[in-house]
Order: sequence, then structure tokens, then C-alpha cells
Amino acid sequence: MSTTSIVSNAARAAGASPTPEPQVTVLDTGGQYCHLITRKIRELGVYAEIRPSETPAAELSGRKAIVISGGPCSVYEPGSPTVDPAIFSTGAAVLGICYGQQLMAHLLGGTVTKGDRGEYGLAYLEVREQSPLFRGVDHPQKIWMSHRDTVGALPDGFRLLASTETCGTAAIADPERRLYGVQFHPEVVHTECGREILTNFLFGISGCQHDWNPKHRISLIEDQIREVAGGRNVFFFVSGGVDSTVAYTLCLRALGPERVRGLYVDTGLMREGETPYVRQLFASLGATNFSVEDARERFLSALSGVHEPERKRNIIGEKFVEVQDEILQTEHFLDGHWILGQGTIYPDTIESGGSAKADLIKTHHNRVAGIQRLIESNRIIEPLSLFYKDEVREIGRELGIPAEFLERHPFPGPGLAIRCLCSQQPAALQRVDDGWIVPVHSVGVQGDSRTYRPILLLDASRGWEEDYSRATRLINASADFNRVVVQPKAKDPGGFRVFCTDLSDDRLERLRRADDIVRRLCRESGFDREVWQFPVVLIPLGTETAPDSVVLRPVHSVDGMTAQSVPMPQALLDRMCEDLLRVPGVCTVLYDLTHKPPGTIEWE
Ligand code: XMP
Repeated sequence: MSTTSIVSNAARAAGASPTPEPQVTVLDTGGQYCHLITRKIRELGVYAEIRPSETPAAELSGRKAIVISGGPCSVYEPGSPTVDPAIFSTGAAVLGICYGQQLMAHLLGGTVTKGDRGEYGLAYLEVREQSPLFRGVDHPQKIWMSHRDTVGALPDGFRLLASTETCGTAAIADPERRLYGVQFHPEVVHTECGREILTNFLFGISGCQHDWNPKHRISLIEDQIREVAGGRNVFFFVSGGVDSTVAYTLCLRALGPERVRGLYVDTGLMREGETPYVRQLFASLGATNFSVEDARERFLSALSGVHEPERKRNIIGEKFVEVQDEILQTEHFLDGHWILGQGTIYPDTIESGGSAKADLIKTHHNRVAGIQRLIESNRIIEPLSLFYKDEVREIGRELGIPAEFLERHPFPGPGLAIRCLCSQQPAALQRVDDGWIVPVHSVGVQGDSRTYRPILLLDASRGWEEDYSRATRLINASADFNRVVVQPKAKDPGGFRVFCTDLSDDRLERLRRADDIVRRLCRESGFDREVWQFPVVLIPLGTETAPDSVVLRPVHSVDGMTAQSVPMPQALLDRMCEDLLRVPGVCTVLYDLTHKPPGTIEWE
């Protein structure tokens, strides 16, 4: 468990809590779906929490329902996650999902059969026996499967509820003891009846009551802020992101503008107009104690001559630490009158499959020695540490924060620096069967490992559908590149070269202009609402007079862990290319067709 969650728990134990006693606990067996299950339950109006799988049953007394999540292991593997078998007799109804179903069967005397091929993707559920779990659910039903093993022999007292063509035990139950198991994933959108099944389990089987609406928690959060702060004031390093802004606004309301300081560090690596935008936003929220630290020159000079992406990240991280440390000293934030406010949200506090990376990203910038000291001595306030992003947005809306701000796409802390690619040496493109290898290296991810490889530029676009299937096929077949791009406005790459460049002012300005054009057109056309994120990247590919090219990377995603490249309406793309090609120094526009994996969302 991370430091931050220990702090939140301490604050919770101290008294006022903005959340009710959980009716439902989701036991985390290490699966990426654990947060998704919890979010879905909360969306249905029931407060749910996540706990480690081995939490003793005695700590879960009073729960109406326990859910055992799916996970990547096999029950017979040594060291695979397990649960306290006493949870099956606390009186709470239990739902095992995927691995959770297998674990339940295994612990109660059934068997689990090892699958050699597994079943991934859509399947059709045939209900074999009517059950309160499937009330109102027609069949066959489209469901989402992702598993290797399956339950074989059922434990005593269990009956078969449903199956699919390839999985004999798609749902099982011991209705007497209210123990239910499903092999599929009711929490994902692809399971069309997932919401009904969870509703049946929560209300029909477990007897849960509606007790959760984040909007109704605002005054309790404010009480908690006043209690934790006591007589002390709160300061925030705000990023211009949703979480820290909503957390800041809650503190502002709870303590008044005199007692809440906000500091924003201008690194010079932000998008066009960001600093004035943040300044104006905080003024509109009633922040009178808000200031901007101009650190542009310091960041830019530290990054001069640097090419390697990890090195860039490290330098930016170090500069952040340096600047924050100085502010802590000069503003006397380390004396006893101040505590640190942070926009930590629930997934950041729980290390499960889906959130480990988010944790890493956040802690990275918080490792200032002074901040570490504040955390260790409990001088920290995290008003949103028990809330999900969607809930934070809902609270933000209720507080009157503009919707346009709350719906902003995520933007990485190191900013445009990681989207402005550099190259250490000039190089020529190489002709291959399907196009050109462009020797600009970018980061990708395969399995659990990072790759750093050149790009394949397809010879010509043949329409979205064919381009996407070619991209997937080619990338799976080669280790020479980790991304595939296409030129929407074909130019002959024969005359293109890769230039030796670092992160200059000129190039950052070029990227900033390109990013601004893309953002404006996306906003005007409404396309920004159809994608999860839309990085715009600059790479040193071009000609003597136009040495850079712009890459468009619109993606769909749920949590940033996986993502799909998204096609764009042709008229919008045409207009975008036209405007981008007018930016001085821009040679061509490229469209990234790579999903994640094997690409990452950011290029770097
Ligand atoms: P990748 O590129 O790893 O990105 O597919 C996944 C998500 O994480 C965001 N990201 C960051 N966010 N600080 C952040 O706050 C960072 O250093 C950082 N790096 C990547 C990225 O924008 C995407 O949403």
C-alpha cells in the first residue's frame, strides 16, 4: 500500500469521514478490472471499497456483499492470491468474478480445470437455470470473457446457472448460502447485461440500499478538511489538472480564501495559453492567494542539448523538486502553520494491476524531501482520496467549476517536452516493401517491457480500414519498428531526412502552434468529445527548409493502460492538415495507426 493511502486511512480513523461504512468490499486479486468493478457498483448508488484479497473476514463484518475480483493467476500456482475462507460464512452474499469464481470453487471443494488456449473476447451466454442473478436478463446474451482456466466439478451445494459454447461453467451458485460466481466480466461495457446482473446481485440478492451520490458528500468533505486542518493553513502545488483544482476548491470553500495558497509552476513546457488560463480559472473560483512561479528559463536551459527521453524526464523531475524545495523554504511552508493539500484520487492510493503506473507517475513529482517530511508527519490533506475521477468531475460540477475545464483531456506533467522528439544524429530513410523506415526512435510497450524503435511510414493510405489492418499485421511481424504511421496528404518521402536536433525554443514553439491548431479544430468540431486523449507530437523529419513533421495521435481509452488509435472524420482531417502545413518549419503531417500495446499513448 502506498504512503498516501496510509495517510488517508489515518485521516479517516481520526473522525469525520466523507464516505459511509462500505456495504460492499471488492477483494483485489491483482486484476486490472478491480477498480472497474468498484466504480460500477458506486455508479449504481452503493458505496464500495477495495481491500487486499487476504483481508481477514473479521474485518469485513457488517458488509452486505463481498466481490472477489478477477486476476491474472491460476489457483494452483504457488503464491497465487487467495481469500480468507471465512468470508463465505459471514452472512454477506459473495460474487466471484473470473479468477474470483475459480478461487471460490477451489476453496469450497470444487475443481478448476487448466485451459490451454483460453477464451478472450465476446461470447454468448445461455442461461441453464433461472436465478435471481439473471432476473430480467434475456438469453443468449453478449458477454465478455477473458480467461484460461475454468471451474470443473462444482463444490457441494452449487448448481450450474449458465454456460457458453466453450465454457461449461459460465455462472454457478449456491443460492442457499448466497454464493455466486461468473466466469465472464459483468463490469465491462461489452457485457451488455452487466449492469442488470450487478443490480440483481446488489439489490435483489445482497439487500444493499442506495447510499451513494458523490454530490451529496460535499459538506462532509468540507467538515473533514476543517477537522484535519485544525488551525493550520493549506498550500497546494496546483497543476491545472482536474483533481488538484477540485481538491483546492473544496479547501477554499471549507477554510476561506485567506487560508488556502495555490502555487503554479510555469515550466515553459505547457500548451499555448495555459498559464493565463489557469490564472483566470483560479481567479474565477475565488482564489485570492494564488501565484505563478516563472521557472521557464530554468527548465529550458537544463534541457538544452538533451535528446534521450528518459534523461528529459529525469531533468524535468529534478527541476520540479528543486523549484518546489525553494518555494517551501522561501514561503516558510515547512513551519507548523501549514499543511500540504493534494489532489490524490482513489486509484492512486491502491496498488492493483490497473493503477500501479498511475502511482509511479504521481509519486515521481512528489518526492521533494520537504514534501516527504510533510507526508511522514501526517501534515497532508487529500480530500479526494476516496473518490474516482468521474466522481471528482461530478463534485466539480456541483461546485460550479466550468464543464469545459472538467472535461479536459489528461495532459502529462512533463508537458510538451516529451512530445517534442529529438535525434542525436542525422539519418536517411530506408525503403522497405511496405513503405519507409523513419529512423526516429520512440517509446512503445510490449508485454511488460519498454521498446525504443524506429517508425514505419506506410507507402500510401488505402482507407482507414485497410490501413489499420495493415498496421496491425506489419507491427506484429517485425521487431524493426514499434509504430506505423500514414501520411493523410501524400508527399514523396524520398526527399525527407532525419535531422540532428534537441529541444530548442523554436521547436517547442512550433509544436505549441501545431497543438493549438489541433485543439481548436477538435473543440469547434466536437471531435474532442469523441476521443479520450489527443497528443500532437513533433518529430525531426523533413527537409532543409521544413525540418519537422507533426504526428496526430487521437486515442480511445478507459484508463490509459491500453488504447486504440481512432480514425478521424475526413473533412476535419483535411482542414487540420491544411492549417498544420502552413506552420513555418512543418514538412508533413503523419497519422499514428498504432494501438497500445504495442505503442504507448505518448511518443517520447
Ligand atoms: P503512455 O504514454 O504510457 O501514457 O501510454 C498513458 C497515460 O499516462 C499519461 N502520462 C503521464 N501523466 N505524468 C502524468 O501526469 C507523466 O509523466 C505522464 N506520462 C504519461 C499519458 O498522457 C497518458 O494519458
